Amino acid sequence: MRALIEFQQVCKYYHMGDSTVTAADHISFQISKGEFVAIVGSSGSGKSTCMNIIGCLDVPSEGTYLLDGRDVGEMNKNKLAEIRNELLGFIFQQYNLLPKLNLLENVEVPLMYAGVGKAERRRRAMESLERVGLEDKWKHRPNQLSGGQQQRASIARALVGRPAVILADEPTGALDSRTGREVLALLQDLHAAGNTVVLITHDNSIAVQAQRIIRLEDGRVVYDGPSDAPEAVVIPRAARAKGGAAL
Ligand SMILES: Nc1ncnc2c1ncn2[C@@H]1O[C@H](COP(=O)(O)OP(=O)(O)OP(=O)(O)O)[C@@H](O)[C@H]1O
Ligand SMILES: [Mg+2]
Repeated sequence: MRALIEFQQVCKYYHMGDSTVTAADHISFQISKGEFVAIVGSSGSGKSTCMNIIGCLDVPSEGTYLLDGRDVGEMNKNKLAEIRNELLGFIFQQYNLLPKLNLLENVEVPLMYAGVGKAERRRRAMESLERVGLEDKWKHRPNQLSGGQQQRASIARALVGRPAVILADEPTGALDSRTGREVLALLQDLHAAGNTVVLITHDNSIAVQAQRIIRLEDGRVVYDGPSDAPEAVVIPRAARAKGGAAL
C-alpha cells in the first residue's frame, strides 16, 4: 500500500548569522493509512520542525516530503494552504478555538474555508460534536467550557473536514492527567474507527499510547517501531556512550 506520509531524507536547516542549525537531519519514514504514530523526543530534538513539515506549514530544505503521493516541497503558499485544508486536521495544545463563536460555529470553520454550504456545514459540524460527546453544548462559547471539553471541541473541528491525517501537537499539554487520558482515549477511538493519527509529544507515557513510536534525537530518527517493544523505551545518552544497547 502506498504511504500516506513519506519523508525521504528530509533535512531542515536554519541559518543564524554565520552558523547553521540542523533541525532535521536526513529523516526518513513512511506512515500508512490507519496508523496511530507518536513522534517523540526531548526539547530541541526536531518535533516541531517535523510537525510543521508534515502539516504543510513549512517545506524541507533538502529531501522530499510526499503527502498522499504529492510532492509538498514543490508547492507554493496557496497550494500548501489548499492541501492542508483538504488532507489535514490539526489539534493544538492551546485548542485555538475562536472565543466569539459558539462550539458549532467553531467546528464549522474548516468547512467554510472549503466552501461547503450552510445547511451541510451545520449538519456535519453537529455530527462531529456528537463524535466527541459535546452535542448538547453546541451553543456554548469556548470560555464556558472546561479545558478538556475545549480540547474535545477542537478535535471535533479537526474531524469535520474528514481529513486523511489527524495531526495532534502536544494535545494533552495543557490538561491535568485524568482529562489528558480522556483526550488520548478519544484519539485511540478515532484510530480504532480507521483514522490516521500522528501525535507529537515530548512525554514517553503519552507516546506509548500510540501503536508506533518514531523517536527523534538531535534531528535524527533513533527509533522507529512498535510502542510496546523494549527498545521503544529511552536509553539515556550516558548509558549508550558507555556501550549500552545501541539503537
Ligand atoms: N526558526 C528557527 N530558527 C533557528 N533555529 C530553530 C528555529 N526553529 C527551531 N530551531 C532549532 O532547531 C532545533 C529543533 O527545534 P524544534 O523546535 O523542532 O524542537 P522540538 O523538538 O519541537 O522542541 P520542544 O520540545 O522544545 O518544542 C533546535 O535546536 C531549535 O533551536
Ligand atoms: Mg516543539
